[in-house]
Amino acid sequence: MHILVTGGAGYIGSHTVLELLQAKHEVVVLDNLSNSSALSLERVEQITDRQALFLEGDIRDRALLDRIFSAHEIDAVVHFAGLKAVGESVQQPLMYYDNNVSGSITLCQAMAAAGVFRLVFSSSATVYGDPDTMPIAETCPTGQPTNPYGRSKLMIENILRDLAAADPRWSIALLRYFNPAGAHPSGLIGESPHGQPNNLIPYISQVAIGRLQQLSVYGDDYPTRDGTGVRDYIHVVDLAQGHLAALDAIVRVPGIHTWNLGTGTGYTVLEMIAAFEQASGRPVPYAIAPRRAGDIAECWSDPGKAHRELGWRAVLGLHDMMTDAWRWQSQNPQGYEDEPAN
Ligand code: NAD
Ligand code: UD1
Repeated sequence: MHILVTGGAGYIGSHTVLELLQAKHEVVVLDNLSNSSALSLERVEQITDRQALFLEGDIRDRALLDRIFSAHEIDAVVHFAGLKAVGESVQQPLMYYDNNVSGSITLCQAMAAAGVFRLVFSSSATVYGDPDTMPIAETCPTGQPTNPYGRSKLMIENILRDLAAADPRWSIALLRYFNPAGAHPSGLIGESPHGQPNNLIPYISQVAIGRLQQLSVYGDDYPTRDGTGVRDYIHVVDLAQGHLAALDAIVRVPGIHTWNLGTGTGYTVLEMIAAFEQASGRPVPYAIAPRRAGDIAECWSDPGKAHRELGWRAVLGLHDMMTDAWRWQSQNPQGYEDEPAN
């Protein structure tokens, strides 16, 4: 198929472009590089010996989208483009709603005008809010995300549901990611956050490499086995492969579908630190700090629906995630900033 990947230069996008190319799809990437580097796609080419067509631009640029859809026979869109920093979304909500929500609306308008109705959307477990019971299945009602970023994801899900209800030509996958982690085993592509990382694994990695002094563990008084927060970390390569399975499924079965992409297993922050130390052979100094506003105690998936309906499940474990995260970090201490872009 010919696939347009928005946000394809980013962390999850670049890993998915790699899998799409390896599966012999033709790929066009649209990314404004607001949180990424085109070097990721050069590295993907190095690994796969195949090339995605890269177009630098914004999903809110309707004229550009129209040009892309008329120049390429696009069969489906995988839509990663979006802003994702929770704290920044609290400071700059309009920027988040404009980029994520308006951007998605513009994309869908351009798709409909071009007669392209297959869409895979990057949603998040954040749409469940703070559920009462674990694990979280797709039947769990969506809750109250605690920040504008999370609300933007829920708004887009609702818009896409309305769209699918209004027009049966749409075939949409809402993929609710749990906590993506790790990197491609080549060590050539990985997560390269701009500025100080917010998420646990990039923070741990930067402490281990010496870029940051110590990790703050946000709270050790949660009702969990060691008091620290529990999350369902999923290897980014498993996650990327989930997108290919979802694409196959929406070709087969039109309508709107929701799938959790997680492993079904939760780990605490202290377990993550220990696993990273073991995989890297480096100490990760940490201090217990107060809880972070908006955090929940625990969150892990029931991934059964994706397994039953997509034939997909995560196969890589915690050790793979940590080994691959460390290989990426140690080979690219400054991320993509190590190498000047052409
Ligand atoms: P990322 O920042 O690495 O990738 C997003 C990409 O989109 C970047 O390359 C960025 O430059 C691009 N982009 C942003 N706004 C754009 C715009 N208006 N036009 C064109 N390109 C634009 O983030 P990621 O971790 O790869 O996340 C991908 C998607 O998955 C995002 O939508 C994110 O919200 C969602 N998600 C991520 C996580 C996570 O923990 N990483 C969890 C749940 C959901
Ligand atoms: C966060 C976002 C969520 C978003 C997801 C992926 C919040 C409240 N939630 O999820 O909306 O979809 O990222 O981008 O920000 N931790 C530490 N020290 C750190 C960093 C994290 O102890 O320096 C702990 C957290 O308290 C949590 C766990 O590690 O228990 C994972 O945190 P993180 O990687 O930020 O992901 P989430 O909070 O699950």
